[in-house]
Amino acid sequence: MRRITIFDTTLRDGEQSPGASMDLNEKLEVAQALVDLGVDVIEAGFPIASPGDFEAVRAIAGVVRGVQICGLARCNDKDIDRAWEALTGAERPRIHVFLATSAIHREFKLKMGKEEIIARAAAGVRRAKKYCDNIEFSPEDAARTEPDFLCQVVEAAIAAGATTVNIPDTVGYATPAHMGGVIQTLVDRVPNLDRAVVSVHCHNDLGLAVANSLAAVEHGAGQVECTINGIGERAGNCALEEIVMALRTRGDFYNCDTGIETTRLAPTSRLVSGITGMQVQRNKAIVGRNAFAHEAGIHQDGMLKQRSTYEIMRPEDVGVSKTDLVLGKHSGRAALADRAKALGYHVSSEELDRVFDDFKKLADRKKEIFDADIAALIDKRIGSE
Ligand code: KIV
Ligand code: ZN
Repeated sequence: MRRITIFDTTLRDGEQSPGASMDLNEKLEVAQALVDLGVDVIEAGFPIASPGDFEAVRAIAGVVRGVQICGLARCNDKDIDRAWEALTGAERPRIHVFLATSAIHREFKLKMGKEEIIARAAAGVRRAKKYCDNIEFSPEDAARTEPDFLCQVVEAAIAAGATTVNIPDTVGYATPAHMGGVIQTLVDRVPNLDRAVVSVHCHNDLGLAVANSLAAVEHGAGQVECTINGIGERAGNCALEEIVMALRTRGDFYNCDTGIETTRLAPTSRLVSGITGMQVQRNKAIVGRNAFAHEAGIHQDGMLKQRSTYEIMRPEDVGVSKTDLVLGKHSGRAALADRAKALGYHVSSEELDRVFDDFKKLADRKKEIFDADIAALIDKRIGSE
């Protein structure tokens, strides 16, 4: 099995999402939770962006152990020097330099030609390399960059010393076939690509960040950049819990795995949601409240017979205590009988028929049925016999 590096950028790209800023202590708490989760690299921030970002990267680099700590920098001396200043205390530092390469960014943002971009990218990597060996280079907006030019930039960055080349879909424009094709082009055409790890960094503007990251892995990417709960700029980044569980659950297809302790996924999701105030949608894959909840009678009956009928993952494997057979108007007799038993009642089949009628009437009126409601219905029926 190929081991995929999990690069977590919750504290950098994740924190860039509107309303998700964290203070220093909160960042330290999240960083430690990421270590416990087993991520390989923590992108702790963008040191030049603000004094607060600098201090956070410095504090994390100074105390968090057992993981690579990364700081982001644009391709200029000031950014790179500042990033290194923040990272010096790290056990295993990584500097991540980036420069946009797409025609749109070259023309409207950077006002630079192709040659200048290549020279600047190589110079940035060389500058960072003076400080440490572990250098990541990202051609920003790579997914919208001309393939030939992207190959040239990547080749130059590796020749200058980049040990990871990260391919961002900065604006979430790619589709899985497109992203897989971009990685395949690099694999086919960049002669020195085997000297670096190929990484992927997908945004979720079309809701495809996880699918695009999987396609990149399929075509040879060895690192995935992601965030807890998928938080990040605009519609967010590739969600860590989703890519990790996709690779784990479909190891038969991808033949890849990660070092993530998956039982920490739900607690880490709750921690990040609590700290940032960004709620996790109820039907969110893996960590949403409904991810292991079943309401339909046919599904509940199947689950009670054999859980693999309607579940492809075990809730306990992602840190959720148990499957939730929600009692509502779609539920059947089997689930009601199961709940009555769990509540300590011995209900005969005739009693269950009557309680079930009452239950259906109540479920039509009430959105959520709690254990106390079930107990009241049973007490009423059995008590009145
Ligand atoms: O989305 C992006 O392009 C980025 C880069 C800095 C890697 O976040
Ligand atoms: Zn990004």
